[in-house]
Amino acid sequence: MSTFLPGVPSRRLALRPTLLALSAAASFGAAQAQGQPPLKVGLMLPATGTFAALGDMIERGFRLYVQEQGGKLGGREIQYFRVDDESDPSKATDNVNKLIKRDNVDVIVGTVHSGVALAMARAAKESNTMLIVPNAGADALTGAMCAPHIFRSSFSNWQPGYAMGVVAGQKGVKRAMTITWNYAAGAESTKGFTEGLEKSGGKVVKDLNLPFPNVEFQALLTEIAAQKPDAVYAFFAGGGAVKFVKDYAAAGLNKTIPLYGPGFLTDGTLEAQGASAQNMLTTLHYADDLNTPKNNAFRKAYALAYKSQPDVYAVQGYDAAQILGAGLKAVNGDIAKRDQMSAAMRKITVDSPRGKFTISPAGNPVQDIYLREVKGNNNEFRSVAVKSLSDPARGCKL
Ligand code: PHB
Repeated sequence: MSTFLPGVPSRRLALRPTLLALSAAASFGAAQAQGQPPLKVGLMLPATGTFAALGDMIERGFRLYVQEQGGKLGGREIQYFRVDDESDPSKATDNVNKLIKRDNVDVIVGTVHSGVALAMARAAKESNTMLIVPNAGADALTGAMCAPHIFRSSFSNWQPGYAMGVVAGQKGVKRAMTITWNYAAGAESTKGFTEGLEKSGGKVVKDLNLPFPNVEFQALLTEIAAQKPDAVYAFFAGGGAVKFVKDYAAAGLNKTIPLYGPGFLTDGTLEAQGASAQNMLTTLHYADDLNTPKNNAFRKAYALAYKSQPDVYAVQGYDAAQILGAGLKAVNGDIAKRDQMSAAMRKITVDSPRGKFTISPAGNPVQDIYLREVKGNNNEFRSVAVKSLSDPARGCKL
């Protein structure tokens, strides 16, 4: 366990069998949970590579919620197992099997990278293990590959992309270019953007890409300068987003061609991006300054626990724990009742720092997507870009 994470208190309530045997159904459930061993949660996240900081934030958010519940979900203590997936799809099946077969976890939480998450979903389906995805947006996870025990606490790649396309159209963009890494998340995010933009008659004149996680942007920036589109839509995240936004500004392009993106382009990255990101507009399901009791309490608790500010990834980790907690509560901690648990998890309204959201039948958040503007080190709320946006869940058959 990393030293910066708050310890999970291992308070064990003394068993009082005679009292419990006579008490109401709720406390009977609690007694059942108490008799059970700790719930094994497998965290498969990147601890190295361009998405390392995102993995850290997710884990911190998850542990914060568990800690707020006294270290238990559904009455069960939580035991963590961790694997660094390195955001490497070629190692994903071996890595997830360490959790499923070696550690025998009850539930898997992960990951950031879409390609890795797709391999995790296949392994989770084969072994009938519950999977909660706290970031990766691969549309298929809650689309063609949807399954009763697969959930997402984050977004589909289509969602923020589509919303940005709608906003760009409203701003009069007619000719746009896109730029991203050549993998599922980049392709789907730009596809969502294109779909949103086309609604108002705009179009994408060229899609540019480079292999993940390369950051040699110069030749592509030269092409953007030559084509002079009305706007550029970019999907990058983590270390790659820092470098791209800085390079775009260093090339002077931000003065003439607005740079738009899903909020990953500027979330968790602003300190490093500095002046180069100021005033940028992005769309996402979170904004730092949402002035709601829930977000204010979350940010305060996070700052207290970790002496730093949270971002969207911490919110997604926190909400993954909330969704798991709600499911476990419905079955009094008995994860063997997986069908009942999954059905309950599809019915909840999550009281998230992002605002309340529901879970679609396919297992994906139905949520507001905000337009945000970078001011200093914050992504500030400007407006609701699209209200209660549900992923189309193309190809999902349950
Ligand atoms: C993804 O691979 O789905 C992905 C990665 C990083 C993000 C968002 C999506 O910030």
